[in-house]
Amino acid sequence: MHFPGAHILSVTQFDRNDIETIFRVADSMAPYAHRERMTKVLDGAILGNMFFESSTRTRISFGCAFNMLGGEVRETTSISASSLTKGESLYDTARVLSGYSDIIVMRHPQSGSVADFARASRVPVINGGDGENEHPSQALLDLYTIEKELLGRDRGVDGMHIAMVGDLRHGRTVHSLSRLVQLFDDIRFTLISPAELRMPETIVNELRERGHEVVETDDMENGLTDNDIVYLTRIQEERFSNREEANLYRGRFRLNQAIYTRYCQPNTVIMHPLPRDSRAEANELDNDLNQNPGLAIFRQADNGVLIRMALFALVLDVCDRVHDTATDIHWYTEDRF
Ligand code: NCD
Repeated sequence: MHFPGAHILSVTQFDRNDIETIFRVADSMAPYAHRERMTKVLDGAILGNMFFESSTRTRISFGCAFNMLGGEVRETTSISASSLTKGESLYDTARVLSGYSDIIVMRHPQSGSVADFARASRVPVINGGDGENEHPSQALLDLYTIEKELLGRDRGVDGMHIAMVGDLRHGRTVHSLSRLVQLFDDIRFTLISPAELRMPETIVNELRERGHEVVETDDMENGLTDNDIVYLTRIQEERFSNREEANLYRGRFRLNQAIYTRYCQPNTVIMHPLPRDSRAEANELDNDLNQNPGLAIFRQADNGVLIRMALFALVLDVCDRVHDTATDIHWYTEDRF
């Protein structure tokens, strides 16, 4: 795809070359994200970071990624604090906000809302998560992490076995990740969920049509065996009609060190988009895995900055100039990575 000026709305926009391009630019961002060097390539540029739904990592890491390229960030952090509660349409909001910034990242609870917003925007828009539909930057950082973790085990993405666990019906991260990974060859997907929370049929069909093996099960223990990657997800409580309904599924699938040792092959990479629900009634990913070297969840979160810097650099067309304005950092930055 042609990146300069493009909206980034769905992983279906990318082919394998595009992924490779994004990942190599992400690699080149490491000195800046790791606070060894700083660049002013986006000095004067403004990001409108519009989050109309809860977020910690995605919002902050998009904001920091922009700052690390030298740009400034303006934010909205809830629907209730914006004019959407006064009945303003997304069209009007997009027309107005796109006059105030050079690029917009947007998260919104409705599927398709970010694409609607992008149609009315005068500047590029990046989807930070639209309802249960898609979360493209998360899928990119997940795949980037998978590649790195498997490389350390002398393996590649082609031919890998991945298990996805939890609320596969509402989880936009697993929707986007499945659609992205399907560009590779001979993947085995083991989809572990309660019957009511299965991966949407259209996605399962797409995976099978592309020649991948898909196993759907509600038997976690059997499903965990023989995987390179186990990707857990949270029950997406905010997508249920009420808390009681979400409670029916909360805590159904849990991974801890004892279960890992018993069922997973040694070295299995454990992933989660975060936040993990650590309340006792859920505890989907136990803290006793924190010392497990296969636990990649914080490496995922770190990689998010590199991927988001790469997206900004590509869409705003500054990849070639990032290093021109680079200088050393002179404050304390040791031992972070
Ligand atoms: C995810 C999301 O918002 O879809 N979080 C994130 O962006 N890392 C997953 C979740 O909230 O469960």
